[in-house]
Amino acid sequence: MKIDHVAIAVNNLDEAVKEYQKVLGINEVEFETVETEGVRVAILHLNNSRIELMEATKESSPIKKFLETRGEGLHHIALETEKIENEVDRMKGNGVRFLGDVRPGSRGTKITFIHPKSLHGVLTELCSHPK
Ligand code: CO
Repeated sequence: MKIDHVAIAVNNLDEAVKEYQKVLGINEVEFETVETEGVRVAILHLNNSRIELMEATKESSPIKKFLETRGEGLHHIALETEKIENEVDRMKGNGVRFLGDVRPGSRGTKITFIHPKSLHGVLTELCSHPK
């Protein structure tokens, strides 16, 4: 596995992007809305991974709830794996808890989330990219 991205929940995506771009010295940024997850995402490309800033797109978004209870900050880390279904099966066999089944993410990826209680407080996404 490798770290695919680190995701940060923010109140105002456009403001946060400007600040992150300035601090990190990054010009290019891609925006993407994942309506099924209730988020709009700004992707900042680093050498071998990405930082994703996320804002809620609707009241029922899980990000909205997160921001209200925890405030802005680290939301999840994402680990890339080649065969996500195999990893999920292996982990479930070891008692790991998941938030939802493997499902389509952005850009043809497949994603699911490991419950933070299974990883000492860190919400962790598993993702696999299309070949
Ligand atoms: Co993510």
